[in-house]
Amino acid sequence: RWVAVLAGGLSHERDVSLRSGRRVSAALRSAGVVVEEWDADASLLPRLRESRPDAVVIALHGGEGENGSIQTVLELLGIPYVGADVNACRRGWDKPSAKAELARAGLLTPDWVVLPHSTFRELGAQPVLDAMVERLGLPMMLKPHQGGSALGAQVVREAGELPTAMVGCLAYSDAVLAEKYVDGVEVAVTVIDGPDGPTALPAVEIAPESGVYDYTARYTAGLTTFHTPARLGAETAAAVADLAVSAHRLLGLRDVSRTDAVVDADGAVHFLEVNLSPGLTETSLVPMAIEAAGLSFGEIYAGLVERAVA
Ligand code: DAL
Ligand code: MG
Repeated sequence: RWVAVLAGGLSHERDVSLRSGRRVSAALRSAGVVVEEWDADASLLPRLRESRPDAVVIALHGGEGENGSIQTVLELLGIPYVGADVNACRRGWDKPSAKAELARAGLLTPDWVVLPHSTFRELGAQPVLDAMVERLGLPMMLKPHQGGSALGAQVVREAGELPTAMVGCLAYSDAVLAEKYVDGVEVAVTVIDGPDGPTALPAVEIAPESGVYDYTARYTAGLTTFHTPARLGAETAAAVADLAVSAHRLLGLRDVSRTDAVVDADGAVHFLEVNLSPGLTETSLVPMAIEAAGLSFGEIYAGLVERAVA
């Protein structure tokens, strides 16, 4: 049995993906799995058709790795893969869609609006920015409606920062997700599918030195302090785990997901987003949570490969 780990690709998260690919490949090898590391470039399709790996581990982040594109190709070729299927990717990859679906199911998520680029042309920039401030208040959080690794995302504390922040977001996607900013403890919860269904690993609490968990704070060792398990009371820790398992189930996710959430001063847990192909780099949260739970990253992923092939 052998596995192809797909990494790289053309998204803005290419570098992160190459790091994820290297790390998960090494972990799988240490668990006895035969692995080939493939860069997801133009040679990918013929290579998949000709070499037919027994399974694929998708370490691609951003666009084609998480929006159902590569999953569609693998379905068409009949090659098993680890991670969410095509439909779940389509639903989960779009941040506003995921928020709307989970809000309908009763989960708490910060109030939000979605602003397609065209809104600004049609209504004029200033009226739109004014309406955003009126609706969501300040500070607010801006994110590209699709994307990852905090690229283009920004906390806006003053109205004067909005235009630049909007432009920063629109550089990465054609719509902006603007959310009410919830101050509190940021946590990330890994959910792994096992024989007893999806199980949440202990939450990782994220405390970036700069106060903002941006791209640099994510991928530079030492710039963020992590507490695993998060410093939460038992009841809150259970609520955080429930939220992540609910998100995984409601969005129809499979194998592994990571839900990012914030716990406010009253202990309420707010869903922020779910990550369908979570980072697996040296500084990433999923491997950290697995190891903090006393499990082996390689063994867990080897188990997910077995599930995919079965
Ligand atoms: N999008 C990055 C890889 C993450 O969620 O970890
Ligand atoms: Mg994300």
